Amino acid sequence: MTTDHKKHISWNSRWTFIMAAAGSAIGLGNIWKFPYITGENGGGAFVLVYLLCIAIIGLPVLMAETLMGRHSRRNPISAMSRLASESDTSKAWVVIGLMGTLAGILIMSFYSVVAGWVMDYIVESARGSFVMATQNQVTAYFESGLTGNPKLQLAWHTAFVLMTVAVVAAGVTKGLGNAVRFMMPLLAILLVILLGYSISVGNVAEAARFLFSPDFSRLSAEGVLKAMGHSFFTLSIGMGAIMAYGSYMPAKVSIARTAITIVLLDTVFALMAGMAIFPLVFAHGIEPGSGPGLMFISLPMAFGGMPFGTFFACLFFILVLIAAWTSSISLIEPAVAWISENTRISRYISAGIIGLITWLGGVACIYREGVFGQLDMLASNIMLPLGGLLMAIFVGWIMKRKIAKKELEDLSYNQFNLWYATLRVFTPIGIVVVFAYSVGLLK
Ligand code: PHE
Repeated sequence: MTTDHKKHISWNSRWTFIMAAAGSAIGLGNIWKFPYITGENGGGAFVLVYLLCIAIIGLPVLMAETLMGRHSRRNPISAMSRLASESDTSKAWVVIGLMGTLAGILIMSFYSVVAGWVMDYIVESARGSFVMATQNQVTAYFESGLTGNPKLQLAWHTAFVLMTVAVVAAGVTKGLGNAVRFMMPLLAILLVILLGYSISVGNVAEAARFLFSPDFSRLSAEGVLKAMGHSFFTLSIGMGAIMAYGSYMPAKVSIARTAITIVLLDTVFALMAGMAIFPLVFAHGIEPGSGPGLMFISLPMAFGGMPFGTFFACLFFILVLIAAWTSSISLIEPAVAWISENTRISRYISAGIIGLITWLGGVACIYREGVFGQLDMLASNIMLPLGGLLMAIFVGWIMKRKIAKKELEDLSYNQFNLWYATLRVFTPIGIVVVFAYSVGLLK
């Protein structure tokens, strides 16, 4: 335990930190969003841009964000204020913490609605509702039975928000640490089982071609922005979730090695999810670009027509729920830590307040058409990359270099300089170029 900050205790091992951060990173982004936006944006070329963004932007920012958190040992808003004053610069940099904390709340608003759908699908698959179902039947269920039924969505959304609030309220060492310790390995095991299942019964060749052979004529400028936005979303960076988790990271743990592990785990999970979903999609002649419903329409149908389908469908949605849960915890942790560390309000009440706010955001998504997509676009594709850009500029050009040196002391001279140069030059240029390209300034 650290005494750096009176209300701030740290996790007891590198393993717990990796599990927590990987739990944050691996979520609906990998299993639901990555396959469906890859499908909508033409496949291979999108995947390639996404992987490039992970390498040039994602990894350096992940390291920067973790070290900002660990050095300051505070929630992202207070962390920025402390880092700014230590570097004798303007308090305006607190905007990184503020915008990020807000982005987390916005993302949680639609994230919890999708997680609610997942809960509903656990029940429906267990009841055998999708056995031998046709594409039309499952589509009808998803579109009218579930997403056309606000009351049902509201009930599940409420349940999911409560589940998340309960863990965050219990606190980082008890709540987060224990929650992820056994959930992440379980998740990995379930995904490997599913992958084997899909490979043995699905159309693997077609899926691999779709995911890995790039055809740039199918990638639009907006697709490029979405690929970058998704690289932030999937790694949970640019909004302070990783800064908040980094603040609980033990001092002696290597940030670089940990970050590389998290990036590899996250990428492997996304590609595994893609390879678990697309062979089934192609085996059934389903449209890969069928949107947010990809996982909720094609998969249950595919499972429904296969041996042991009920069991595997159920297992799959439980897996997705676990992944969503460990991610949503980190979406509201910055806000909850900020309130409970800066006011006399307890962690329980803070978690309740933020839970209520995100619950209302979810209600807006459920009852008002268009809110869902707009929140996702604004938070994931604009606020996260903007937050990442500001973090890269802050750590690369504004913050005292010795802070970064100290936090990354295990790196050799060359390794440190490689990271530092990338963060200062290539990361910001990459983000700015994608922004400019997507609004039509570059062709
Ligand atoms: N990374 C999570 C996912 O892929 C979502 C997330 C984004 C979590 C930002 C925290 C912060 O599902």
